Amino acid sequence: MSSSSQPFYESEKAISEYLLFHYGSSQEQCPHPEGPSEALHYPERCVSQCLQKELLGDHPRALDLGCAVGRSTFELARHCHEVVGIDYSHGFIEHANKLRIEGSLPYRFAVEGNLTQDAVAKVPDEIDRDRVRFLQGDAMHLREDLGVFDVVLMANLIDRLDDPVACLSQLSGLLKSGGQLIITSPYTWLEAYTPSTHWLGGLQRDGENVQTLDGLHHHLNPAFQWTQTLELPFLIREHARKYQWSVAQGSCWVRR
Ligand SMILES: C[S@@+](CC[C@H](N)C(=O)[O-])C[C@H]1O[C@@H](n2cnc3c(N)ncnc32)[C@H](O)[C@@H]1O
Repeated sequence: MSSSSQPFYESEKAISEYLLFHYGSSQEQCPHPEGPSEALHYPERCVSQCLQKELLGDHPRALDLGCAVGRSTFELARHCHEVVGIDYSHGFIEHANKLRIEGSLPYRFAVEGNLTQDAVAKVPDEIDRDRVRFLQGDAMHLREDLGVFDVVLMANLIDRLDDPVACLSQLSGLLKSGGQLIITSPYTWLEAYTPSTHWLGGLQRDGENVQTLDGLHHHLNPAFQWTQTLELPFLIREHARKYQWSVAQGSCWVRR
């Protein structure tokens, strides 16, 4: 399925799961004491663990590509004066915008079968929501009036794109020299989203195993210098007794 026809990220199920994934309390995200608590609050950790704050200059600008319902976009606003969140899903952007305007949003998430639990998604009070802007758009064909950024975050996006290289090839023009690029992903390559001829890794080429980090180095060099790699577990709740536990790799790069 190409990103131009992806019903999942427009569905009520996806909107509910992502509101919970981005804004749910620890107890709402996983009520089981034996669950992997270190995998909670991933959209916050993509910023708190990956952003190199010491590299930020004055009045930094950030871009969150594939922002979904916007939690990382708001988290970037703790450190950056202007943040743009872009997602292909109209439904996600509509909900992110409601959160920007109202600061909170009631929703329901799945418990079991048709049973749901009421919840409220809330942007932390200390975050200045006026610093944030959400736009519907395609990360592979970005509009030309975005300007240049000090930070670009791509969280769990790269393996959901039809043509990841089309997205990566725009980045050197979007980042200032010294600006940072953060790419996180569990590298779940699927033909349903990305034809295997476009996978960055997870296959053999000329008899050699290619992992996605190798592919990222190949496509980002020489414009970007790799700085660090991190392990970022995350948990997506489907219902009270079914979860997706994954471990994303975060890679951080600086525009030369
Ligand atoms: C797996 S979700 C990750 C969302 C969010 N960054 C997170 O970590 O929770 C992938 C996101 O990429 C978005 N997406 C897919 N194709 C896109 C494209 N071509 N341009 C922009 N966003 C896209 C989807 O709508 C979805 O919000």
